[in-house]
Amino acid sequence: MGKPKALATRPLFPEARAILDQQFETDYWTLTERIPRAELLARVAEKEALVCLLTEKVDEELLSAAPKLCVAATVSVGYDNIDVAACTRHKVVAAHTPGVLDETTADFAWTLLMAIGRRLVEGDAWMRSGTWPGWDLDQLLGGDVWGKTLGIIGFGRIGRGVARRARGFQMRVLYSDSARAPLDVERELQAEFVEMDRVLRESDFVTLHVPLLPDTRHLISTEALGKMKPTAYLINTARGPVVDEAALVQALEREQIAGAALDGYEHEPKVHPALVSRKDVILTPHIASASVETRTKMAVMAAKNAVALFKGKRPPNALNAEAAVL
Ligand SMILES: NC(=O)c1ccc[n+]([C@@H]2O[C@H](COP(=O)([O-])OP(=O)(O)OC[C@H]3O[C@@H](n4cnc5c(N)ncnc54)[C@H](O)[C@@H]3O)[C@@H](O)[C@H]2O)c1
Repeated sequence: MGKPKALATRPLFPEARAILDQQFETDYWTLTERIPRAELLARVAEKEALVCLLTEKVDEELLSAAPKLCVAATVSVGYDNIDVAACTRHKVVAAHTPGVLDETTADFAWTLLMAIGRRLVEGDAWMRSGTWPGWDLDQLLGGDVWGKTLGIIGFGRIGRGVARRARGFQMRVLYSDSARAPLDVERELQAEFVEMDRVLRESDFVTLHVPLLPDTRHLISTEALGKMKPTAYLINTARGPVVDEAALVQALEREQIAGAALDGYEHEPKVHPALVSRKDVILTPHIASASVETRTKMAVMAAKNAVALFKGKRPPNALNAEAAVL
């Protein structure tokens, strides 16, 4: 009997390919452009396993097109690209990659926080323009980071990593979440659990770390932005649709907040055109977890999730382990 068949929508990394190729006859999508939807549906049709990225939707349509599919493993911690309930109905185990990207993503939230607060990108552009006249007292004044109040919305793995780093900057840390963290975690991170309203009103930097869910879509709305201080910055390394981009543009235009640094967008890969020309905005291409080490770990984890079932085990990071027919 031949090996079961898998589709990987990217060539992944050699470490991950080694795991997949041992178990499967794997079809890798290797072209530079993302796999077109029609091609994905055609290629997944005869496959038993799928390793995909957050750019591929695993929904009723795909699952119906892939009657042999047993597992769909996304190379991401966020799994808003996967309809988990539909997977369960189709007896497909859905899996993601939690834990391995926490520190790298927290590092990047801090990269953005410091860059927007201290106007790093504006400074870089000025130097490259050849027009900098030399030092002066009032050039590119930003907001201090040290000693300020950091507001974290979504105090899970990544949110806590962001809080841990704030201690070195002697910041006051406020957080809101749909569930309060254990007291020992609050104590260790010196973080105070408050209503989101207070996070918005009191923080100098508001950083987002909630998953994209129906109730977090546009969590940062006109109303939420209206509560922020005019000197405060918004940092988004969660999913783009958590922020209402039109409302953000309006808040920036009205100087209701001081700036924003974004790594995710409402309609990726598109960006709201009004954000592009603004100096008080930093835009990065969804790279918060993009270190060599972490992206490799994510691909390896997804590969392990994909092969587990075929070794008679439950995928270690299953979102619906009950769908597994072992
Ligand atoms: N930009 C990137 O490259 C990148 C990288 C990694 C993760 N992410 C995003 O970050 C998200 C968080 O990742 P994580 O590993 O920390 O997840 P997590 O599950 O550990 O933490 C999420 C937290 O959000 C809280 N939450 C859920 N719904 C909420 C609501 N309505 N209001 C307030 N809090 C709510 C949860 O209770 C949890 O504490 C991911 O889902 C993903 O979308 C983005």
